[in-house]
Amino acid sequence: MSLQTHTVFVFSATGSQGGALVRQLRSLNWNVHATVRNPDSPGALALKAAGVHITQGDWDNIEALTLGITGCDKLFLCLHPYLNDLDRERQQAEKVVKIAKAAGVKQVVCSTSLGVFMLDTSVYIAPGSFMAGHLASKRGVEEAVRAGGFENWTLLRPAFFMANFLEPKVYRYPEVRDKGTWTTAMTTDSQLALIDHVDIAKFATIAFQNASSFHGKSIGLASELLTIEQTLDQIAEVIERPLKAVFMTDEELEAQKESNVFTNSQVSMRYMSEYVDMEELAKIVPLTTFKEFLSREREVVKTTYRCGGT
Ligand SMILES: NC(=O)c1ccc[n+]([C@@H]2O[C@H](COP(=O)([O-])OP(=O)(O)OC[C@H]3O[C@@H](n4cnc5c(N)ncnc54)[C@H](OP(=O)(O)O)[C@@H]3O)[C@@H](O)[C@H]2O)c1
Repeated sequence: MSLQTHTVFVFSATGSQGGALVRQLRSLNWNVHATVRNPDSPGALALKAAGVHITQGDWDNIEALTLGITGCDKLFLCLHPYLNDLDRERQQAEKVVKIAKAAGVKQVVCSTSLGVFMLDTSVYIAPGSFMAGHLASKRGVEEAVRAGGFENWTLLRPAFFMANFLEPKVYRYPEVRDKGTWTTAMTTDSQLALIDHVDIAKFATIAFQNASSFHGKSIGLASELLTIEQTLDQIAEVIERPLKAVFMTDEELEAQKESNVFTNSQVSMRYMSEYVDMEELAKIVPLTTFKEFLSREREVVKTTYRCGGT
């Protein structure tokens, strides 16, 4: 394990996984660089207070990225999908890889999605669906990293974020918060692979500290596997009101196929747990259970589900 100090460029530093990674790297006294879109945002100000070297600019701003990445020997690549232009994430990754290589970056740890594993299996992903475009772009990001010529690279493929049930990410699942139900394409038995974003940061940190032993690996990440009912019950316990899973029938799923671009991605979630090796993951970092996550984020849980005082 490397004990020397490094300088890491962190993408999405004001976001969940990037933010957690920044905190872990700074606690090791490593230097962190990042670009932010708005230097006056609370997230950017928190980064500044944590001693992060900030450059203003978005991910299309080559000059800002070059300025920020110069002087870094490691890079955490975590971009964002653009719903109206799914290939843009891959295109941005290719540009970043070129800048990083030219700047002398030696190691890249890249966070994409657990779903990328499914592209090489028989799980059906409807051609032309949101899921097909999204995963193809994520795989393109990975290919750019692999082909980038870095001494070391590692691909992390995280599962479904525990934080999806909380503000601000819950906007994608408003039914759970607003109606107390979750209509899902999962089955009663299928297991939801849940990841705590802080655990993603733990894996990234370990990979940065042990560059050669993590080199060339693609690792599916989850913190815990739970059924939908177990997941909802654990949230219900904290908010002290019931949450109910509504399981869609195959007929209902078929009927929605054309009208709901996300239906196909929900069905594929049934198979996510097959791509994580929980025993192996637990040997690498201590994994956070959903209960522990909800307890740590108790205040946000209460605010999200409008529970009033705590
Ligand atoms: N949610 C899930 O279940 C899940 C599962 C697997 C993979 N993922 C992947 O995880 C990634 C998101 O990670 P996260 O949830 O940790 O992030 P997040 O909390 O959603 O934060 C997004 C970050 O990206 C920055 N950002 C977004 N678009 C940008 C742009 N055009 N230029 C510059 N900065 C931009 C934001 O900066 P600002 O502060 O400027 O807004 C912020 O730092 C996505 O790629 C997603 O596909 C998510």
